[in-house]
Amino acid sequence: MCGIICYCGKKQAIPILINGLKRLEYRGYDSAGFAVVENGAIGKNGRNNKNRRNIVVKAKGRVDHLEKKKIGLDVDATFGIAHTRWATHGKPSQVNAHPQTDCANKISVVHNGIIENYLELKEELMAKGHVFKSETDTEVIAHLVEEYFEDDLEIAVLKAVERLSGTFGIAVIHADIDHQVIIVKRGSPMVVGIGDKEYLAASDSNALTPYTKKMIYLSDDEIAVLNSDEYHIKNLRNETLEKKIEILETRDYKVDKRGFEHYMLKEIFEQPVSIENAMRGRIIESEGVSKLGGLEPVLDRLKNTRQLIIVSCGTSYYAGLLGRYIFEHLTELNIEVELASEFRYRRLKLDEDVAVLALSQSGETADTLAAIKEAKRKGALVLGIVNAVGTAITQITDAGVYNHAGPEIGVASTKIYTSQLVIQTLMALLIGRYQGVSFIEGSEIINALIRLPDQVREILKNADQIKEIAHKYSRYKNFLYIGRLFNYPTAMEGALKLKEISYIHAEGYAAGEMKHGPISLIDRNFPTVAIVPDDLTLDKMISNMQEIKARNGKILSVTNANVPQVEKISNDIIVVPRTIPILQPILNIIPLQLFAYYIAKEKGRDIDKPRNLAKSVTVE
Ligand code: M6R
Repeated sequence: MCGIICYCGKKQAIPILINGLKRLEYRGYDSAGFAVVENGAIGKNGRNNKNRRNIVVKAKGRVDHLEKKKIGLDVDATFGIAHTRWATHGKPSQVNAHPQTDCANKISVVHNGIIENYLELKEELMAKGHVFKSETDTEVIAHLVEEYFEDDLEIAVLKAVERLSGTFGIAVIHADIDHQVIIVKRGSPMVVGIGDKEYLAASDSNALTPYTKKMIYLSDDEIAVLNSDEYHIKNLRNETLEKKIEILETRDYKVDKRGFEHYMLKEIFEQPVSIENAMRGRIIESEGVSKLGGLEPVLDRLKNTRQLIIVSCGTSYYAGLLGRYIFEHLTELNIEVELASEFRYRRLKLDEDVAVLALSQSGETADTLAAIKEAKRKGALVLGIVNAVGTAITQITDAGVYNHAGPEIGVASTKIYTSQLVIQTLMALLIGRYQGVSFIEGSEIINALIRLPDQVREILKNADQIKEIAHKYSRYKNFLYIGRLFNYPTAMEGALKLKEISYIHAEGYAAGEMKHGPISLIDRNFPTVAIVPDDLTLDKMISNMQEIKARNGKILSVTNANVPQVEKISNDIIVVPRTIPILQPILNIIPLQLFAYYIAKEKGRDIDKPRNLAKSVTVE
């Protein structure tokens, strides 16, 4: 979703802003833009000579459309702000792209989030004579700052922010104020980067890492003022704050495609390594247990927890659904899984005996953040499994575990899903070994975990076979995915992968539910993907498949054994290696990721940036 990058220093700002926008592209967006103030003689009090140009360049579509415009790219400017927009208020268009400006075109604003009271503010400002150009909620901020501006931008922004309700990360510059960028955060992440005689800010530290690893994460209702030779941070009561500078400890992952046609394919193929990284240093084989340093400060509390509620969205939610079975299998905890966006409507009794576990690749998902805040308010212990280091969720959880999977750029989550499953298994094992799980059981799980990366490699060797099967199925317009127990979430995640990148309708169902409704859809044009491992669900799965066959439905099966009955009923079959039942979904999802990828490719879809989707969903 929307992304912000800002620069204030001595270097040419535009190349840094454009590069930052490119590093934010993976989040998903529909337009982009930047604003800089052209350098010129400085007047008294550090003010610019009047009439220095505020250059605003915007384009619908990709950042390279912005570059191709070649307007303003050679301007001599050493501070500015830039934005990638994912439309909320008003269609994707050049005029709705950010930065938004005031009537005099001196104040430029970029904004992530939503201004909930923008309509009433807009009416008020229009009544005072302000002229609006866009349909965005963001434009009210520029006009409000204009309304309050006398000669101090910081004061004007503080007064404007007092009037706003909703969530936002904002950056503001004024053409008459030399080298000053003002940042405000409420509910939408903003981080300040401390460089060498230069300051940067962004909504995502990923945009800043080429310039600095020194970060200050703003908390809600904080304002950062960046100048060319100093910065300061205040709260909205105008009190100066001392904030800790944190060193972003991120491994230097390469973010190119490494010869793969798409990031998604590269990320699917990275899974042997991302699974290894999820386990690295976290297993004590000699004791049949796991060790998660990030949870150590809360381990005593965790051991006495009676209930665990997993909250997350999308693919992370499906990982949580599978987490329920894993935790139930290995611990004595009562487990609930809830969509983060629904969690706040529940009337749950949360107290200190309850732990809430948030799963999030981006660490920024607004719904998940809102759920965490609700859980904290009610006194629960809040934990996270997050991939993106230093992001908002990692800042507000009590403790957590990083995926260490490297950046996931493809909008469709693949390697993080399998990594989330591995880490939940390690967590469940850690708790379970204080409860009923024996050394022998713990060792079996660890041995199975250790074998996983090679088993994934084996599946990936068969990518061409899966491509051929995908070709056979690419003409269908609807798919049903079914599974039971550990593979019920696999069915849902497989269906989500197909629909989000190929735009084909697909439903993931618990196989037992099929006869309660969806079976009416089945005919020769409505194929089913059945996840049918050789475990205690096998016989029942075979019965469900028979029911589909009896209605002329085609079946593509994913299984882990040569079961003659499965072979007989299936039109096509993909066999993956066998592991213990709780880990089998990690292997079963890999061919389904590839199946979705190859169908989407055949259909010529924009696989890494599917329409309407964003990598980080920062609005509720
Ligand atoms: O960053 P998060 O894990 O919190 O994101 C949650 C969902 O938005 C995300 O998993 C989404 O469903 C993906 N596009 C799925 O591939």
